[in-house]
Formats: sequence, structure tokens, C-alpha cells
Amino acid sequence: MQQKKFNRYLVTSALPYANGPVHIGHLAGVYIPSDIYTRYLRLKGCDVLSVCGSDEHGVPITIKARKEGITPQQVVDRYHALIKRSFERLGIAFDIYSRTSSPTHAATASDFFRKLYDEGKFVERTSMQYYDEEAQTFLADRYIVGTCPKCGNERAYGDQCEKCGSTLSPDELVDPHSAVSGSKPVKRETKHWYLPLNDYEAFLRAWILDGHKEWKSNVYGQCKSWLDGGLQPRAVSRDLDWGIPVPVEGAEGKVLYVWFDAPIGYISATKELTPDWEKYWKSDDTKLVHFIGKDNIVFHCIVFPSMLKAHGGYILPENVPSNEFLNLEGDKISTSRNWAVWLHEYLDEFPGKEDVLRYVLCANAPETKDNDFTWKDFQARNNSELVAVLGNFVNRALVLTQKYYGGEVPACGLLTDYDRATIAEIGGIKASLEANIEHYHFREALKDAMNFARIGNKYLADTEPWKVVKTDPERVKTILNIALQITANTAVAIEPFMPFSAGKIRSMLAVDRFGWEELGSMELVAAGHRIGSPALLFEKIEDDVIERQLAKLAATKEANLAAEKTQQVEDQKDNISFDDFQRMDIRVSTILSAEKVAKTKKLLKLTVDTGIDRREIVSGIAEHFTPEELVGRQVLVLVNLEPRELKGTLSRGMILMAEDASGKLRLLEPNEKTSNGAVVG
Ligand code: MF3
Ligand code: ZN
Repeated sequence: MQQKKFNRYLVTSALPYANGPVHIGHLAGVYIPSDIYTRYLRLKGCDVLSVCGSDEHGVPITIKARKEGITPQQVVDRYHALIKRSFERLGIAFDIYSRTSSPTHAATASDFFRKLYDEGKFVERTSMQYYDEEAQTFLADRYIVGTCPKCGNERAYGDQCEKCGSTLSPDELVDPHSAVSGSKPVKRETKHWYLPLNDYEAFLRAWILDGHKEWKSNVYGQCKSWLDGGLQPRAVSRDLDWGIPVPVEGAEGKVLYVWFDAPIGYISATKELTPDWEKYWKSDDTKLVHFIGKDNIVFHCIVFPSMLKAHGGYILPENVPSNEFLNLEGDKISTSRNWAVWLHEYLDEFPGKEDVLRYVLCANAPETKDNDFTWKDFQARNNSELVAVLGNFVNRALVLTQKYYGGEVPACGLLTDYDRATIAEIGGIKASLEANIEHYHFREALKDAMNFARIGNKYLADTEPWKVVKTDPERVKTILNIALQITANTAVAIEPFMPFSAGKIRSMLAVDRFGWEELGSMELVAAGHRIGSPALLFEKIEDDVIERQLAKLAATKEANLAAEKTQQVEDQKDNISFDDFQRMDIRVSTILSAEKVAKTKKLLKLTVDTGIDRREIVSGIAEHFTPEELVGRQVLVLVNLEPRELKGTLSRGMILMAEDASGKLRLLEPNEKTSNGAVVG
């Protein structure tokens, strides 16, 4: 394939849904890679724009709003602000972070639809969809709840069962009901517009399968299997009251499907950023790169390109680097189960350690397969790589320069063979580092960048200037000159990955920005230049810090288990007659005393005043209540239960309690003080 020549770059990062905060999975999969790529291009002096923003439409946002009793706009306002700020704090340097609720976006997406509509690029179809007569609204798949046909989960959604992971359609649900009103939905006819993807199959085959064999195998493979499976027309409108109204007559109550409007958000964001936006979207010499997660592949490789093709005038992506998923401590990251490390929480809990997270997530990025984030690995990488290699090297070079030369960079004298070999090794890294970044192999690229520090660290360990200074001070000048040049190189090399640390090294060296073209040079800091004072780049992370994070996750796990258990409800028992019920004599009673029954774990002996008499009841609740918390309480007692001898006491009756699926017991108390003997029924 011939190499195309590009004069500018447009980098997009998947627009995060504004219905929750960003977590480490998003970062490792999309935002850290795209930021590394963009920072690298900027350092090289390329013309590059990086655009992103919040994806603020779609059903999950309306569900969240309903749950919290606020409007969808309030939901997206909250999360948009949180996400935007968190990205900034982590140093994710978008040129613009916009949002799909912006007026520019509404106009852009609306015009886009209208053009396709006017040119007859859509097909109109009616179909039967679930409708909630009580709430008078069509129901998105997510709004239909029922029993999963595969695993029996009673809370499966019309599109998916979160318990067993099956993809479902509303028709498959047993006993479907509306999540809006709880009523049983009916089928109603509705009209929608479809993009006939099947018409674009030949174009997509030629463009992707023949033209982009260099795409990552997971991306290429997914595209191929979609294309081989045969493409179908895809609805681009929805019956919903949150989104961009379908801009044609007779479309009241309909909005653009979120996956139709969201990718157009890349265009709107560019428009908001610069009046020159067309140069980035409409010239063949722009390289468009979409950074996404693997669940977004079909939308970015099949649907959006078909939309762009249908519209005409726009360039297509040159590449769509997409990562696999990052797990957390062996489990799938999940927003609903709160199983995640949330970016904003990390930033609050680890101030000044932005680069540590950037480093660990890149070093461990799920580039070719799903990967696992563990706090132990986080700690190990910080302590043995960032502190012991990078921090240690930079610190030694700077501290020794201060100590021996009062901070003045010494001149380089005669080189030894070892010096020459080291310099050659340094000079050799650049090509590999560049190739790795340009091919989206960021983990390898990071290793290359760290190699500068590794080589520098080894150089100082081998040359031992702290010993040589006693015998051959001239030689030490050369050693430290070389060490400082390597330090400066390290600052350049790590800049795309760890911009905060790169900045710190530059200020310790008292130099302004370096350009990427200077990487590999041994003349980055001139002899006689005075450096600044050394400060620690990284600090050791102790066990207790990691244990706190693990405890936090353990608490989440426990809460989830408890929630799951209490959600299970026992089946209803067989019907009884009113007479059966009337035969039970239940009375309000007061517990007068309680004591543990000797040599048993579970039994308590209670004396109760039933209003009829005082009697003893032996109850198996010793593991749930202490005697002290029972005495004086009013409870309900089934008094005509056949007496039974238990551990030498005649137990006459039963205290009524509620037991949930987790086995937790609760007393049933009258809601206000009642006279003993009052009849319950
Ligand atoms: N919001 C989507 C997600 O988080 C990504 C949208 S990407 C865009 O999966 F291209 F549609 F903007
Ligand atoms: Zn299921």
C-alpha cells in the first residue's frame, strides 16, 4: 500500500456518556492512548486537533434522571462538569471538551439528518413497538423489565440481562412490564427512519477489508464478521423525549438515535473549536484517527463511515485504534455495581500522583487482550519503576551536579568507549519510540521512553562518580555532563506519557520546553548552564495506602452481595382460607426479661406479658439480638401455638419476626405503644 502524505491530524476520543463518572477502564482504553498520541504529535510540531466531549443523549441518562427524581439535563450537567474537570486534572489535554447538548451540535446533527433525508438516503418503516398506555409513551428496550428466559433473573432488561450477560430483545422477556409505570405494555405501530447499511456494504468491504489491513486485528476482525454476517438497515430515530428532535414533519415525539447524533459530536466540537474546521474534516491530507473502546467498533467502523459516505464531503478515519477491556482485581469493571476506580476519587485520594496513574494504565493497557488492574501492581510499578528507576536516576544526576559544581553543568571531556556505547544506545531509542507511538503500540512506546532513565541509571551505577570524584575529578565532569544530557532526553521522551513529571524535570534543569526533534541529542543542556534545585519526582507508596484501597473494594463487594441477597424474595405460599387465618391468635406483648439458654448458641429464654398472662417463650434468636436490646420491647406473639418443651423450658408461643433473604431478622413492633393483649388480625 502506498504511504499517504498527511499535513494535519484530527484525533477524536469516544465521547463518554454523561451518566456517570469516568473510571480507569475508560482511561486505559481510550483517553490515555489518545492523549499520548496527541501530545507526541504536538511535540513534533504537527498540526493536530484533539476533540472530545460528553455524550449527553440516550436512554440510560433518562433512566438515571427518573431514578433520582431530577431532569436529564440536570444529570448531564452534573456529570459533564465532573468528567471535564477530571480529565483536566489528569492532564488529558483535549483542544476542546464539548457536549452533545450544545446548540452547535443540535444544529449540526439536525442538518446532517435533514440532508440525508432530503436526498432520500433513509428508508421509512413502520414497526410494532412496546407502548406504555398508562404513561402514554413508547418504551425503549431498556425501559422494559421482565424475567430473563435464559437464567430466570426477574430484573432483566429488554436489551440485556445483566445477571447472565445475554443479549435480549423485549419479545424474549417473560412477563414484560414497563419500568416507567409498572403496567403491562402493549404493542403499537410507530414509524422510524433507517439507514440502509446494506447499501454501503461494497464500499465498506473495499475501504476496510481491502484498504485497511493494517488496522488492529481486533478491529479488523470485528468489521469482517459484521460484513460477512450481512448488514441490515439500522434505525436512526427513536420514540423518546430526550435528544435532538427529528427535523422533519410528522416526527413529533421522535428524536435522533443517540448513536446517530453522538459521532457527529466530533464534527460539532471541531466547529466550536475553530472556524477552520472544514480543513480538518474535508481535506484528504488530514489524518483522522478515532480512539475508542472495543464496544464502539461497529459504530465507528461501519455506521458512522456509512453516514459520512451518505452525506458526502467528509474524510473517513485513517485508523480506529481500539483497546480491549481493563478489569479491576479480576472482575469486570461495572458502573452499576460500583466496581471501579473512579478518576475523580483517585485524583482526590492521590494528589500529585496523576502521572503514576497515567504510567500504570499505559504500562498495563489492554492493547491486545483484556487486562487486569490490581492495586498491588500499581504499587509495584510505582515503587520499582517510577521511584527506583526514573526518580532515582534523575535525582542522582541533579543532586550530584549540585553537590560537586554548585548546580553548574560541567563540560564534557574525553569520552571512554563505555560513554560512546551509552550515547549510541540513547541515540537508538528514538526510532523505535516513534514507530511504536505511530503504530499505537503505547505500552512498548512507554518502555522505550523509560529506557532513557534505565540506561542513565545503569550508567551512573557503572561509572560510580561518587567514588571516582576522590581520584579523578575531571572524569566526573564528563560523567555528569552525560548523565544530565540523558536526564534532559528523558524529559522529552516521557512528556507524552507523563507530562507533569516531564515538566518537573525541565524546571529542575531550568530549561524551557524541548522539541521532539531534540530527542537523542547530547547537547540539550549546555556546559556552564545553571540548573535549578532537585526535588523528588515520585515517592514510595506504602502498604497501608494500598490496603485502604483494597478495603474500599472489599466493602463494595460486600454491599453488592447484600443487595443481591435482599433482592431475592421467597415465592408465595399456597392460599389459606379466612378461617385458617382466624384460628391464629396473635397478641401484642411486652418482653419482660431475656436470658441466654445455657450451653446453646441460638436460644434465648424470654418472659413476656401477653396481656392474658405472663409466660415463657424459647426463641432461636440469640445470634441476632442481645438480651439487653430485647427487654422492654413490644412485639407480636402467636400465643396459641402448641406449647413445646425446649431445653427444659415449656415454650408457649412464638415471637413474630421478618426475615429477609440474607437471613437477617427484624422485630415487628406496633407503630405506637399498645396495651398488651391487643389482638392482631
Ligand atoms: N458514549 C459512547 C460510549 O461511552 C461513546 C460514543 S462515541 C461517539 O460507549 F462517537 F458516538 F461519540
Ligand atoms: Zn439472564
